[in-house]
Amino acid sequence: MKKRTMIRASVAAALLGAGAVAMAQDNVFKIGLILPMTGQQATTGRQIEAAARLYMAQNGDSVAGKKIQLILKDDTSLPDVTRRLAQELVVNDKVNVLAGFGITPSAMATAPIATQSKTPEVVMAAATSSITEASPYIVRTSFTLPQVSVALADWAPKNGIKKVVTLVTDYGPGIDAEKYFKERLQFNGGQVTDSLRVPLRSPDFAPFLQKVRDSKPDALFVFVPSGAGAAVMKQFLERGMDKAGIRLIATGDVTDDDQLNDMGDGALGVVTSHHYSAAHPSAANKKFVEAFSKANKGLRPNFMAVGGYDGMRVIYEALKKTGGKGGGEALLAAMKGQIFESPRGPVFIDAQTRDIVQNVYLRKVEHKDGQLYNVEFDVIKDVKDPGKAK
Ligand code: DHB
Repeated sequence: MKKRTMIRASVAAALLGAGAVAMAQDNVFKIGLILPMTGQQATTGRQIEAAARLYMAQNGDSVAGKKIQLILKDDTSLPDVTRRLAQELVVNDKVNVLAGFGITPSAMATAPIATQSKTPEVVMAAATSSITEASPYIVRTSFTLPQVSVALADWAPKNGIKKVVTLVTDYGPGIDAEKYFKERLQFNGGQVTDSLRVPLRSPDFAPFLQKVRDSKPDALFVFVPSGAGAAVMKQFLERGMDKAGIRLIATGDVTDDDQLNDMGDGALGVVTSHHYSAAHPSAANKKFVEAFSKANKGLRPNFMAVGGYDGMRVIYEALKKTGGKGGGEALLAAMKGQIFESPRGPVFIDAQTRDIVQNVYLRKVEHKDGQLYNVEFDVIKDVKDPGKAK
């Protein structure tokens, strides 16, 4: 072969190769999954990753002729890192969807990127009410703190709890929980006598709990993010708060299924309100818990896992509906209005707010099959985020 012919042939081969790559790329649907895999929120990352992989194992990795590629990134729960990773995933990897977001600041940091690039942002964990208002491209499959806190403020005064001190982590979801619990309790004739806030990073609950013990309310209402509940429970019991006649009531983030079984019998009787319990008595949930546990060395799924599992479902169904055509706008449209049975119960993605509408359950920690579980004893059906009503 002459030199020129050789060059031409190799250029042609290179072009052909590039074409094949481009074609292969066209047939790939990329989900950029940004989670805290290390650091303070690592259990959230572990739960959501496991749930996303379970969903893919059960439903296949090819949808509407596209191969699903999950690109997992660890943001260590630092919002500056989340922002950089989201930018790289959109610009370099050209992901079709951004998903995950372990804490509110991470979901918020990504919102402008979702808007500018018209990429759907599926929030699977973070739960401050206002998140869905930060970008029209955000869809949420987790929950909101107002959604779950109000139910407990309705239950408490009917059960002898009138005077309450609130203790929350000092950022978006905690401030939401504090506000909506307090407003509703007061509406019901109860009273919040003190509102305490602990820092998100390296919280020490001891000085706050001592203060509560001294003021002797009927109950202490707590919100802390997933992963911090065991420390609250331990210090509550160590200080003999329960023996002093102060009841612990909380959002389900505190009696987190990821940690509950290790909290010990001191947790028995704690009443919480939340959207998911691993003990939810439905066939769909039994199947989910068994499969999740089997795939993850006996790990019990928590509410983060269910947010991740349902988030994948919302993405898969949107892709099925659009056949991968029409880009981010079409995908987003196909995410809105989805109705399905989640392991948590029936859910609905409100087309107007892009937020999840779901049942909220009142639960009590009890023994079941020799383990500790949040056993549901009441349900408020189809709860919309009250934070959106204003
Ligand atoms: C958030 C994080 C959590 O771990 C949780 O349980 C609830 C809310 C958040 O940052 O929005």
